Amino acid sequence: MVKDVLCYHIRMKYRILGKTGLKVSVVGLGTWQFGGEWGRTYTQDEADELFVAARDCGINLIDTAECYGDHESERLVGTAIEHDRVRWIVATKFGHMFHKPFDRSEPRRPKDVVHQVEASLTALRTDYIDLLQYHSWGDDTFYNDDVLATVHKLKQMGKVRHLGNSVGQGDNVKQIAASKNMDITAIQIIYNRLDRRPQDTTFPVCIEQNLGVLSRVPLASGYLSGKYKVGHVFDKNEVRGHWHGQQRSDAALKEVEQIQREEVPAGVPMAQWALAWCLQHPAVTCVIPGCKSGQQVRDNAAAAALDLVKADHPQAV
Ligand SMILES: NC(=O)c1ccc[n+]([C@@H]2O[C@H](COP(=O)([O-])OP(=O)(O)OC[C@H]3O[C@@H](n4cnc5c(N)ncnc54)[C@H](OP(=O)(O)O)[C@@H]3O)[C@@H](O)[C@H]2O)c1
Repeated sequence: MVKDVLCYHIRMKYRILGKTGLKVSVVGLGTWQFGGEWGRTYTQDEADELFVAARDCGINLIDTAECYGDHESERLVGTAIEHDRVRWIVATKFGHMFHKPFDRSEPRRPKDVVHQVEASLTALRTDYIDLLQYHSWGDDTFYNDDVLATVHKLKQMGKVRHLGNSVGQGDNVKQIAASKNMDITAIQIIYNRLDRRPQDTTFPVCIEQNLGVLSRVPLASGYLSGKYKVGHVFDKNEVRGHWHGQQRSDAALKEVEQIQREEVPAGVPMAQWALAWCLQHPAVTCVIPGCKSGQQVRDNAAAAALDLVKADHPQAV
């Protein structure tokens, strides 16, 4: 069957990811969905379709992690980009181990970190990671000099180019403020139209320290696509049905309906607007929406062309 594919002539925009100096597309590609916690698995052909679309649209930034499946997302990414590895900026993470969907442990001794990074490099079919991020570490484990020394050693060896921190739930100003002393140069944080907490708290610190900012969950787990209505029941095998529950989903969707009525310009797809909304903030370098198909990749990339994504953004190139 020939599938209809909506094609856009997209002019991607690029920004410098803070002190890393990396030039990243303002719209990147999140890949948690490859790991089995979004209700399905992906074949390599299905994953490849997303990367074909990403290349077409000028996307060069990929976010993955050690625990999106047991290095499964990294394996799909690595195979898809092996032939043109240098055109991509690959961000991955460390600090969790996947056992089965929604069941993870937290191996965090220095030797665990080395083991994980080596497994990530193998899965990604590469000999370097562009951005290695702490994966939502709590304060009780984050401030560990031995782990930091281990990661810096991996950097000196050329296996890691830059160190980042994907901060956990909430808005951890303390961890972000510590970036300067830990040589952390990029932050990944939940930021979207339904969760604006970073604006008043962490973003000023990011600007002051010139940290790159990856806005994660920019579509509020897909609620901000505008395609779901209050009362929608999500599959228990995926994040929204498993973790959020009906009450949280309904509250989010109620707010989305109001935003859709009052803020989204007529004729603009809500998902694109929601991504551009994140990108208008001076602290935000890029968004990393999770995409389930090549079409979603193309639709999301088109957000770069909206007026909200200004050419005079402080990190624009
Ligand atoms: N702790 C961490 O470090 C952490 C935690 C969470 C996420 N992340 C990263 O952030 C990335 C993004 O977060 P996320 O995937 O959880 O949430 P998200 O990007 O806010 O939402 C993704 C979901 O939105 C829907 N969607 C995407 N594009 C769409 C479009 N154009 N139109 C309509 N629906 C669309 C898809 O689901 P449906 O089509 O099924 O609705 C997709 O699975 C992850 O992939 C991961 O790389 C990191």
